[in-house]
Amino acid sequence: MARSTNGLIEEETMMDDRIPVGVLGATGAVGQKLVEFLIGHRWFRLAEACGSPSSSGRELAGGSNAGEDSASQQQESLRLKDPASPWESPILLSALPTSAAQEQEVRLAEAGHVVVSNASTHRMRPDVPLIVPEVNPQHLELVTGQAWDGALVTNPNCAVAGLALALAPLHDVFGVERIVVTSFQAISGAGTPGPPASSLLDNVLPLIPGEEEKFTGEPQKILGLLQDGVLAPAEFPVSASCTRVSVSDGHLLSISAALSGSPSPEMVTAAMEEYRGSEVSRALPSVPKKPLEVMLGADRPQPRLDRDRGNGMTVTVGRIRTCEVLDVKFFALAHNLVRGAAGAALLNAELCHAEGLLARR
Ligand SMILES: NC(=O)c1ccc[n+]([C@@H]2O[C@H](COP(=O)([O-])OP(=O)(O)OC[C@H]3O[C@@H](n4cnc5c(N)ncnc54)[C@H](OP(=O)(O)O)[C@@H]3O)[C@@H](O)[C@H]2O)c1
Repeated sequence: MARSTNGLIEEETMMDDRIPVGVLGATGAVGQKLVEFLIGHRWFRLAEACGSPSSSGRELAGGSNAGEDSASQQQESLRLKDPASPWESPILLSALPTSAAQEQEVRLAEAGHVVVSNASTHRMRPDVPLIVPEVNPQHLELVTGQAWDGALVTNPNCAVAGLALALAPLHDVFGVERIVVTSFQAISGAGTPGPPASSLLDNVLPLIPGEEEKFTGEPQKILGLLQDGVLAPAEFPVSASCTRVSVSDGHLLSISAALSGSPSPEMVTAAMEEYRGSEVSRALPSVPKKPLEVMLGADRPQPRLDRDRGNGMTVTVGRIRTCEVLDVKFFALAHNLVRGAAGAALLNAELCHAEGLLARR
C-alpha cells in the first residue's frame, strides 16, 4: 500500500520476488499453520495449495488465527488444486497424511521440486535427511544420494522434535547412553478432527498407535554422525510411553537420561543454557532466539503457559534434577504444531534455500 499525493491510500502493485511455495494438506491442522506462517514471510510466498482430491476447487481458508484482515483476505484468490495436478513452485511443504505422502512426495521430488515433509513416510530412508536445523543441518548432504531431479527432506515426529532438541546439548557435551521418556501429547497432534471429546474428557489415553516406535529410530538418526556421505545413527536406546491428554496444543515430555560421566543436574542445566544451535540455523528467518530455554520455576514448563515461547519454536525445559534410577530427569515441552510440525518444516525449507539446494536443482 502507498499514500498518493491527494492523501488517499491506494494499492501499489509491487514486484514480489519472494520464492513461490506450495502447501500440500493445506486444510489440515499442520497445513493451516503453514498457511498462517507464510503470510508476510521474508523469503517465501504462498503460491499454490491443495487439500484432498475432494477439496479441489474450494477456496483456501486462512490460518488458524485468520481474522478479517489476515490469511483469508490475502489468500482470497487461492483455490485448492487437485494434489495430482502439476505444481509450479520450486519448494513444496507437505502436510499430507502418511498414505498420501507415499503416493505423492517421491513423484514430486522426481518432478524436480524440493519437497519438505512433515509425514513419517520417508523419514527413516537412508537417503532422506531428517533435520532439525539447529542440531544437524549438515545431514542435508544426504540429498546428494537421492536419484531425483528434486529432493526430499523431512522433519521429526512432533514429540521427537522436543526430545531431540533437549538431548542435543547433552549428547554434544556428555554423550547420551539411555533414555526413558513418557509423553503427554496434545489433542491437535492427532490432526483433524482428532479423537472424540467423549474419549478425552476427564481422561488420559495410554496408547497413541505407532507413536512409541518413532522414538526408537528418529532421535538416533538426528543425533547421528555423517561421515563420507554415510549416516551412523547414535546408539542410545529409548524406552518411550506415549499418552494423549486433554490439552489443546503442546506436547510435554518427562525424560530420564543416563549420560556419560554421570553429570550433576547443575552441569546438565549449564549445558542446556549454553546451547545456541548450529551457526547456519541462526541466520534463518523462523529460528527462535533460544532453541532451548531452561525455566527455573518449580512447576514449569506447562503447556498453556509455555508452548508459545519463541513463537512456538522454543523447546522449554524445567525441573532438572537427580534421577534415582538413571542420572538426571527433567521435563521438556514443545508446541507440536509449530516446533513439531509447521515451524519445523518452514525452518527446513529456509535451510534448503540458505544452503543453495534450490539453485542446485
Ligand atoms: N498434528 C501434528 O501435531 C503433527 C505433527 C507432526 C507431523 N504431523 C504429520 O503431518 C501430516 C499432517 O498432519 P495433520 O495433523 O495436519 O493432519 P490432518 O489435520 O488430518 O490434515 C490432513 C491434510 O491432508 C489432506 N488430505 C487427506 N487425504 C489426502 C489425499 N489423499 N491426498 C492429498 N491430501 C489429502 C487433508 O485434506 P482435506 O481437508 O480435503 O481432507 C488435509 O489437508 C501427517 O503426516 C502427520 O502425521 C502432524
